[in-house]
Amino acid sequence: MTSATARAHTNIALVKYWGKRDSELMLPQTDSLSLTLSEFYADTRVEFSNRLDHDELIIDGQSINGKGLKKVQKVLDLVRKMSHIDLAARVESENHVPMAAGLASSASAFAALATAASTAAGLNMSRRDLSRLARRGSGSATRSIFGGLVEWHRGIDDLTSYAEPIMEEVDFPIEMMAILLNTEQKKVSSTLGMQHVVETSPYYPAWREVVAADMQKIKQAIDKHDINEIGHIAQTNALRMHALNLAADPGFTYFNDATLKAMHAVDDLRANGTNCYYTMDAGPNVKVIYDRADRNKIQAALSPLFGADNLIVSQPGPGTVLLDQE
Ligand code: PMV
Repeated sequence: MTSATARAHTNIALVKYWGKRDSELMLPQTDSLSLTLSEFYADTRVEFSNRLDHDELIIDGQSINGKGLKKVQKVLDLVRKMSHIDLAARVESENHVPMAAGLASSASAFAALATAASTAAGLNMSRRDLSRLARRGSGSATRSIFGGLVEWHRGIDDLTSYAEPIMEEVDFPIEMMAILLNTEQKKVSSTLGMQHVVETSPYYPAWREVVAADMQKIKQAIDKHDINEIGHIAQTNALRMHALNLAADPGFTYFNDATLKAMHAVDDLRANGTNCYYTMDAGPNVKVIYDRADRNKIQAALSPLFGADNLIVSQPGPGTVLLDQE
């Protein structure tokens, strides 16, 4: 086996990961929980070949060097070590996610890379081990190996920090609508943002407690298929994550004016009787959580404000799959 292609969908955290305790092993400070989405994904092909003299990375037809390549090489090096392969690789990825705009493009990218690279190298890894490998590229990618509602156990070391599905086939009508407000590259990377917060935000100890409590509560809400409770926990958790950023030194935020406008619009809808909740990540875009029976009402209210084309509805999506191997 020398080449393989994998498709991985992105995920949006309902209980956020925001801080590492080991940046080499990418061990997080807390557990987290996400929903994998049907609409946003990456297709990545990896080929190991003796015709290459160095690793190559091509994303959407563009050759990438520097930091982007380095992150990919970290995962490739782990695969080379495990498989005793000493060949350079060509990695070609097609991204169906607006890159670096807080829609977790790195989650799908590194889940697809881990799956394609390990398969191309002839390794037959379990999904748990794939999630550990994806973690080394990007924390959120740990969860994208699985579909539906997924929990990432922070663990105590490399072996114990992996993701696990809570409900891979989501059998209740939760849906997510992304409001695309800005698809430009974000200014503060998640890596830098979370590191700065762990080091300087006085609220960090409280955040660890918030996440521990939210993990318990959201799992109970999932058991009950209670979309309102899930949305409420997710919105509160997101606001508390972003409060860490405001309280850092110097403080910063991923929100822009359009982010606040979207947050208010969702709050107004809810105040007027349509249950919906928002969450935001390391970028300005807002994701709305709701029962799909309310989709039309929410679209009708948000379209005049943000443009119908900027509202992207996603169902719960599947885990990472292999598309082909040679
Ligand atoms: O693993 P990264 O660098 O993509 O960081 C993800 C951080 C958040 O998206 C903000 C939260 C999360 O749990 O996905």
